[in-house]
Amino acid sequence: MSKKVSGFSKFNSEEKINWLANNYFSDKKKGIAILKQYLNQDQKLQDLHNEFIENTISNFYIPYAIAPNFIINEKAYAIPMAIEESSVVAAASLVAKFWSTRGGFQTKVISTTKVGQIHFMYEDNFEKLTTYFEEIKSQLFKITEPLTQNMRNRGGGIIDIELRNKTIDLDNYYQLHITFETADSMGANFINSCLETIANAFKNEQIKIIMSILSNYVPECLVRAEVTCDIKDFFEKDAEHYAQKFIQAVQIANIEPYRAVTHNKGIMNGIDAVVLATGNDFRAVAAGAHAYASRSGKYKSLTNAKIENGKFYFWIEIPLSLGTVGGLTSLHPLAKLSLEILQQPTAKELMQIIAVAGLAQNFAALKALTTTGIQQGHMKMHLMNILNQLEANVNEKEIIVEKFQGKTISHNAISQALHNLRTSS
Ligand code: MEV
Repeated sequence: MSKKVSGFSKFNSEEKINWLANNYFSDKKKGIAILKQYLNQDQKLQDLHNEFIENTISNFYIPYAIAPNFIINEKAYAIPMAIEESSVVAAASLVAKFWSTRGGFQTKVISTTKVGQIHFMYEDNFEKLTTYFEEIKSQLFKITEPLTQNMRNRGGGIIDIELRNKTIDLDNYYQLHITFETADSMGANFINSCLETIANAFKNEQIKIIMSILSNYVPECLVRAEVTCDIKDFFEKDAEHYAQKFIQAVQIANIEPYRAVTHNKGIMNGIDAVVLATGNDFRAVAAGAHAYASRSGKYKSLTNAKIENGKFYFWIEIPLSLGTVGGLTSLHPLAKLSLEILQQPTAKELMQIIAVAGLAQNFAALKALTTTGIQQGHMKMHLMNILNQLEANVNEKEIIVEKFQGKTISHNAISQALHNLRTSS
């Protein structure tokens, strides 16, 4: 049987599903039923989702949750998170509560500039290219005016166009390095449209355009979030000892890339969950954050901590390119609702909220790792996942959770306990 197909995108939804079932499902009826079960009954809503991407055959759910009690710059927030990983939301909620009695989170946006680049090859001499660029530069701004008008009305637009000589790294390679302000939109379409228009006007016989694209590296679109408290308030017992351990954990992530990647992954658990819930591009944010963590030439922690004059300080600086208008933020009903829950933030406010979600997640991880260990909290949720896998009912769940309090959890042990419970009753 041939598993290749031509014209798949032209099939209607039913035909796509049938083709898939005939070629790939071991149990066709069951597979089709699963796909259909996840389709929305409201056809208008389903059509909306179908049109986000191509060849949609169903929806893939992940949980949507709320972490309340975040105090950010003295304002209270309940933060929506879309994530499948156990413990992330519970950790966020606990940390929000912890810091809500210690002054909350302080945040500020450091910068909001984004970058797009036109990459091109040029074989003649650099002076001639510079002269040509200087001559045409104001024209490049002018031809984008119809595209930038709306953005300029909202305080954004093209900030600068710079010619960069990159021939030291690659023969004949130059760039137009263009900086943008995109107000409350993430601005990917805006930036790419401007770049292609500029590239078209800039190219000539000698200038061979290779490509024009925004950069997801946004070190000039930076936000900072911080918490601080007296050391004695850091922990119930031995506060100084645990604060020191916490700081050493951050220092380790700063010098040891194997640890730094996991440390930053924990931060991204919080960040990506809110980025996704607000309809933003989590791949762009993650790529930019990890690149920023390597800016010194070595991959390091995105957070920092110190003790100074009897106080504990913990902070994050992270590049976040986000939007609160346009794109999925205005299309996906849950993304729109997330923004409503967050009290209709501007893009700058959303940067601050999301930086807090990252800092909170890292705080939870480091506090657990340097005290009880991570498994205690994780395993509670893991236990529930195992029980669900084993199709335990409510009563069985209650009995098993009780039985495993304070005990080591493994799939085998739970499965055995459930088996014993079922055979004994
Ligand atoms: C798990 O998703 C995230 C942690 O590994 C983060 C960390 O180790 O800092 C717990």
